[in-house]
This record gives sequence, structure tokens and C-alpha cells, in this order.
Amino acid sequence: MSSSPDSRPVIAIDGPAGAGKSTLAASLAARLGLDRLDTGAMYRAVAFAALRDGVDPADARAVAELARRLRIDVGPAVRVDGVDASRELRGPAVTSVVSAVAANPEVRREMVRRQRAWVEAHSGGVIEGRDIATVVLPDADLKIYVTASEAERARRRALEAEATANDLDPSAVAADLARRDHLDSTRQSSPLAVAEGAVVVDTTDRSVEEIVEEVLTRL
Ligand code: DC
Repeated sequence: MSSSPDSRPVIAIDGPAGAGKSTLAASLAARLGLDRLDTGAMYRAVAFAALRDGVDPADARAVAELARRLRIDVGPAVRVDGVDASRELRGPAVTSVVSAVAANPEVRREMVRRQRAWVEAHSGGVIEGRDIATVVLPDADLKIYVTASEAERARRRALEAEATANDLDPSAVAADLARRDHLDSTRQSSPLAVAEGAVVVDTTDRSVEEIVEEVLTRL
């Protein structure tokens, strides 16, 4: 999916939780006038709906069926079946089950299909997640793998939880982050990995402006 005169670039951003994907994605999208898709929000929406409907997150078939019929609109707010679930999506209940939901191959198949359709409909954009450059859009014009130290990532996630008024104990945030990183990188279906040709960026002690300048030289 290379850029042509009438299509805009496709930028794929992957990395673990709290690495700075969303901040970088937002800055790049604003800078280049592109739309942006947070694919983690889509997996969170499925996890949210499973909890909402009393579906066991470990029941692969039931969760896959739910994923296929679910309406998910990812924008500044995330709407699930028409209802704004932005706050719940970032809360501890969804966070604790989302890795199990994201490990479900049938759920992934459906989400990948929707993510590719989103790119087609938007003629490009900035897409962030775990498997974007490896699986969803391997022909992206720019592939970025974002990382940061574990301590910094835990600090950012704690700040985010605070910002969304989901009160969490910082040590619980760090433990949960480590648990999810492990699950996301060791699962069978599309584990988190650095894609071939990806620019690897460590965001630990760097400003977003500096990183944006660096990655734009690769576009
Ligand atoms: O980025 P996040 O924390 O909102 O992601 C939520 C979960 O979804 C996380 O456990 C990893 C998973 N995920 C995934 O497996 N593939 C993606 N493309 C995006 C997120």
C-alpha cells in the first residue's frame, strides 16, 4: 500500500503499552494532516462488550461472535454499539481481560479486516497497535516500533489512569503492565514484534517533537 499521488501515506506504529505510541501517532497525524486509528481501543471495545454482556473472555467462540456483530467507532471518543465507553475502556476491569481477548485468533481476524477497511476508507493514515507493521499493513510507507524503559512506561500508564479518573495503585499498574507485555509478546497469534524495516525509537528521555522530526526523515 505505497503512497500514490491521490492517496496519503500509511504510517504503522507498534510497541508495548505505555511506550508513547498514542502521543507519537497524534503528533504525526496532526503534522501530516492524516487520520489516526488506535487499534488497542478496538480490542478494548470487544473486552468491554464481553464484560457488559456477561460473556466469559476465555470463551473463544462466544467472544469471536460478539466481536463480529459489535459496532465500534474509534474517534476522539470510542463508541461501542453507539454508546460512549471511552472511560470504561481504560479502566481496570477491561485492562485485566483485554490481553485474553486480543489473543483470540478469530477476534484478531475480524479486527484486522476492519483495520484494513479503515485504511482504505481514509486513503492512508496513522495506525497504532501491536501487529500493524508485521501483520495488518506490512506494506506501510513508514513502520515505527516505539519503546521506552519499563519504569517510564509504568509511570505513563499510571498518569493515564489518573487522567481518565480510574484510580489505580501505581504498583498494580506496573505489575499489570509487565503481565500484559508478557502475554502480548508470547501469544501464538500475531505477537508483538519488531517488523522488518521498522525504525526503532526509544522515547524514554526524548521529546515528542524531536522524535517526530527524526521519523519524518524516513518517510
Ligand atoms: O494499546 P492498548 O493497551 O490499548 O491495547 C490493548 C490490548 O490490545 C493490549 O493488551 C494489546 C492488544 N492489542 C493487540 O493485540 N493488537 C493491536 N493491534 C492493538 C492492541
